[in-house]
Amino acid sequence: MGLVKMSGHLLWGGRFRSSTEEAFAKLNESLSVDFRLWPYDLRSAKAWATVLARCGVLDASEERLLHQGLEDVGRRLESGEWDAADDEDVHTLVERLLYDQIGEPAGKLNTGRSRNDQVATDLRLWCLDAVQSVDAEVAALGQALVMQARQGIDLVLPGYTHGQRAQPVRWAYVLLAHAWPLARDRARLKDVADRASELPLGCGALAGSGIAVDRELLRESLGFRRLSPNGLDATGARDFVAEFLFVLALASTDVSRLGAELLTYASAEYGFVRLSEGYCSGSSLLPQKRNPDVLELTRAKSARVLGDLVGVLTVMRGLPAGYSKDLQEDKGFLFDAVDAFLLTLPAIRGAVAEMTADSGRMEAALDHTLLATDLADRLVSAGVPFREAHGLVGNLVQAAETLGRPLTDVPVETASTIHPELPRAIASLGTWVDSIERRATAGGSSRESVEVQIDHLSREFGLPAG
Ligand code: ARG
Repeated sequence: MGLVKMSGHLLWGGRFRSSTEEAFAKLNESLSVDFRLWPYDLRSAKAWATVLARCGVLDASEERLLHQGLEDVGRRLESGEWDAADDEDVHTLVERLLYDQIGEPAGKLNTGRSRNDQVATDLRLWCLDAVQSVDAEVAALGQALVMQARQGIDLVLPGYTHGQRAQPVRWAYVLLAHAWPLARDRARLKDVADRASELPLGCGALAGSGIAVDRELLRESLGFRRLSPNGLDATGARDFVAEFLFVLALASTDVSRLGAELLTYASAEYGFVRLSEGYCSGSSLLPQKRNPDVLELTRAKSARVLGDLVGVLTVMRGLPAGYSKDLQEDKGFLFDAVDAFLLTLPAIRGAVAEMTADSGRMEAALDHTLLATDLADRLVSAGVPFREAHGLVGNLVQAAETLGRPLTDVPVETASTIHPELPRAIASLGTWVDSIERRATAGGSSRESVEVQIDHLSREFGLPAG
């Protein structure tokens, strides 16, 4: 097998007699995945240099040199002006470039520090930023839904359960039903950030650092809320990754449900909404097609994110406390999920913001059986116990079906034989909106309830009052 001499820069190797096998080097490298951690690796390295100086490991000029060197490494990485070499991972790359910049003093930076506490710290810092990016995009989708809800407050359509028409509702009410889960997802993201905000640095490889660094100072300078209380836990824990992935999986599931519902409504059969062309694609064969790919891909991306969650949990299960190399696999799943969701959100947000609702098609889908519950409620007001009223209106539905007439158009004689109060109840039903307004309880589809929800969610998603 081929032996490789790695980049010439390795963070280990003193106890080895021979070079690395090429096949193993390829398996072992993680730079292709973890390169994006470099800004965080530099940030934590600078904080580390400061505490090393505080406890006398570095003198003031060495501290300055390291800081300067790390700044320069950052500039090189930013501009792409660095020579690629087969570095094992991002930590190796940063250290090699630091040697390039400042020579031998670079070798002091890793005093008392291990890649185990280092990568756990970098990854937590990365997650904290990623949570914010995801949160901002989730809020933006929430805004688009609320804006559509403001415009759709007077549009009435059937509300569905079991895929069957159930009761008339406002279009705004349906849209808000997809906005509320996003508000809860944002609360979950906040929790993720809180628990991720625990600093591993200073825990060494597992058992704490042999150098008496001031971890509290490290915590403060890196902006963490707490210190991790146990080094073996801190270096081996990836529950913050799993938790973030769970929230991503759930949030992308919530968004996929929105996509799936809009997909139904965008079909010619329903025709309740029309997507703007910019979010559709055509067919290579069928000239007439205008496919709502944005909704289908939104639905599918959630499968990918869920797979990433399962992947990480599967890697974690069975591992003892402390760092195992298995944990290097965490980043591929995490980055994939965040990338996929951040790719999806702006597209679905744009599609939602630009879609148009067809009030005519919505209204055409309403039929009078949607008022069956209203009729039962009327009989209840006339003193009939609800269960009995339910059965009587059921009889009326059956009679209407047999006669092939709308529920509200059953002959008075037929209705009154079912119950003498029924004709009066039918006559007093009023419009679709009257039916909706009868459901004025908090959380209902009445105008007032929907307005309260719009106000609440506008604040939640940072929209100015409309
Ligand atoms: N690339 C590694 C990872 O992402 C860094 C930690 C390596 N630690 C070690 N003891 N080899 O997990």
